[in-house]
Amino acid sequence: MSIILSGDRPTGKLHLGHYVGSLRRRVELQSDRNNQMFIMIADSQALTDNFNDINKVRNNIKEVALDYLSCGLDPNVSTIYIQSLIPELCELTFYYMNLVTVSRLQRNPTVKTEIKLRGFKQSVPVGFFTYPISQAADITAFKAEIVPVGNDQLPMIEQAREIVRSFNTLYDNILVEPTALLPKNEACSRLPGIDGNAKMSKSLGNCIYLSDTPDEISKKIKSMYTDPSHIRVSDPGHLENNTVFTYLDAFCEDKHFASFLPQYNNLDELKQHYQKGGLGDSVVKKFLNEILQQELAPIREKRMEYSKNLDYVFSILKSGSEKAQSIAAQTLDSVKKAMGIKYF
Ligand code: TRP
Repeated sequence: MSIILSGDRPTGKLHLGHYVGSLRRRVELQSDRNNQMFIMIADSQALTDNFNDINKVRNNIKEVALDYLSCGLDPNVSTIYIQSLIPELCELTFYYMNLVTVSRLQRNPTVKTEIKLRGFKQSVPVGFFTYPISQAADITAFKAEIVPVGNDQLPMIEQAREIVRSFNTLYDNILVEPTALLPKNEACSRLPGIDGNAKMSKSLGNCIYLSDTPDEISKKIKSMYTDPSHIRVSDPGHLENNTVFTYLDAFCEDKHFASFLPQYNNLDELKQHYQKGGLGDSVVKKFLNEILQQELAPIREKRMEYSKNLDYVFSILKSGSEKAQSIAAQTLDSVKKAMGIKYF
């Protein structure tokens, strides 16, 4: 049995980057009934850089919950919960803060990039700066062993591992060191935006959302960045930074050729033809569109069903949070015992 934990900040609807980076993997892991899964909507973490836009975070809790359920996360198997409803996480964070230095936090590459991206300059909020410590609390509160995440989260897992080692050495050997579970290939690890930008992100407006309509999906695929030197169909095409091919690396399976493009057996053959010349972008885009429409249609339909029953969705979050809270309370109790601060 493995304890698996992951989560997302509720700052927008989830997109294909979330899907291939972690969501799809969670649904697979859930089908092994020996696993115990915890899926957290990280609203407190989202507030560390959205504290001036509480409504955005609050409204997106619902959207992320709908995305989870429509992708197939099953609340009867996986515990889905809201971070801020587990106050024990704050208390754990406070004790873990003693085990981390300011310079160690400053070296966290993901935090560094995010500080630049958000233009904080010299005014980094302390809450934001320390979120890797709270993420260690998120993970260790459930004794999670496996954390399915994208590449950008590796520094967080590393930091959590260091905190666990310090705690276990200093106090008592009770915390579990988590391991990151990375996506299957490079394309899934960092799915670019449709404009070819390295990151798919809401603020760049380059996302395909899980909840997009069929029309939005095909329009976005038509506009996707490919190889600018591939002007005529007969020109040889390049695969590097060719977004359409990166998406095919993330989504395409051999079976899709039999269904949608039977002239080829597999992606290697398609790539070879493209590189040789004589294969137009529109054919490749049409193929990608068929694949994505097929993958996203059932997700969209389920989302529509769940949206009609929001009371049910919120009841899932409520009971999931109650269950998660009682587990986190047990860990906090043993943490305090290990530290020798259970006074009565
Ligand atoms: N930092 C993650 C993100 O930005 C969200 C998150 C919060 C998380 N706590 C976590 C992920 C614990 C994995 C484990 O998407």
